[in-house]
Amino acid sequence: MNTNTTNTSVLLAGATGYLGGYIAKELQIRKIETKILVRNLEKTAHLKSEHSTIFQVEVTQAESLKGLFKGVNTVISTVGITRQKDGLTYMQVDYQANKNLLDEAKRAGVRKFIYVSVLNGRLHRNLKMVEAKEAFVDELLQSGLDFTVVRPNGFFSDMKDFLDMAKKGRVYLFGSGEQKFNPIHGQDLAAACIDAIGSVKTEIGIGGPDILTHNEVAQMALLANGKPINIVRFPHAIRKFVLWCFRTFTSSKTYGPIEFFLTFMGDDAIAPRYGCHRLSTFFQQEMDVIQKADK
Ligand SMILES: NC(=O)c1ccc[n+]([C@@H]2O[C@H](COP(=O)([O-])OP(=O)(O)OC[C@H]3O[C@@H](n4cnc5c(N)ncnc54)[C@H](OP(=O)(O)O)[C@@H]3O)[C@@H](O)[C@H]2O)c1
Repeated sequence: MNTNTTNTSVLLAGATGYLGGYIAKELQIRKIETKILVRNLEKTAHLKSEHSTIFQVEVTQAESLKGLFKGVNTVISTVGITRQKDGLTYMQVDYQANKNLLDEAKRAGVRKFIYVSVLNGRLHRNLKMVEAKEAFVDELLQSGLDFTVVRPNGFFSDMKDFLDMAKKGRVYLFGSGEQKFNPIHGQDLAAACIDAIGSVKTEIGIGGPDILTHNEVAQMALLANGKPINIVRFPHAIRKFVLWCFRTFTSSKTYGPIEFFLTFMGDDAIAPRYGCHRLSTFFQQEMDVIQKADK
């Protein structure tokens, strides 16, 4: 799909991350004028193009956004805490930073806001990481702006955790390992996010083209590492006990990503299928990068 984006001017926040980087590249390919907001200019070499202007701001501080939205008609935000360890809470980043972007967008008369949350976010509001994202979705619903909430399945970037385990010769799973999901490559998801500019859908659930079991992903990761198939499966009771320990004895900053991961490892997570990138190819490419770096 390739919607008409003539006269579109985008403001992109989150471009220094995995998905945001692919969105910036796709905007560049489609020659869409883009303002890119970053907090760290050292991470921007790959983001520079004749159609983009880069601004250094702190999205968590509303006043640093003033005046930047002039002439913009669409905001795309992938801002959120994944593995950052800045001492900020999900509420300060996933909720408040995005709210700052939304408030400034409203003031400037922006037409549309595209926000990336998580698959089945509404069902998982009890999770720390999701609570803040869905609180922001509530703000979008009440904003009066056109909006699309993109709800992706797991990203290929996160599947590297399987590769890391496989490197050591063993992959750990929970339950039978037959839970199914369809992770998605950043490039495929980026195209869908930009297509959302012209979409009337307020929610887009989206995953990759292949529905895989955890066992299949573990096998792929071991094969890519040239290791024999060695998968250890823990009962779900252990998963739930580990979850309880983290929730009880650590702060939300520590347990947030673990809680999210352990919850999603417990069940099927299947989204409408999209894109053309295969996880097996991604694993092989990642291994090539690792092997080249090791030489
Ligand atoms: N990974 C998954 O499997 C998955 C699945 C579904 C949805 N999602 C969601 O999709 C979104 C994008 O994911 P991703 O993998 O692209 O994440 P990512 O690589 O960690 O990128 C997140 C972006 O948010 C920015 N950010 C984080 N904390 C910030 C702060 N305090 N101030 C300013 N900017 C801040 C980062 O900037 P810096 O580069 O400066 O840190 C980066 O540009 C996230 O909300 C994530 O939760 C992820």
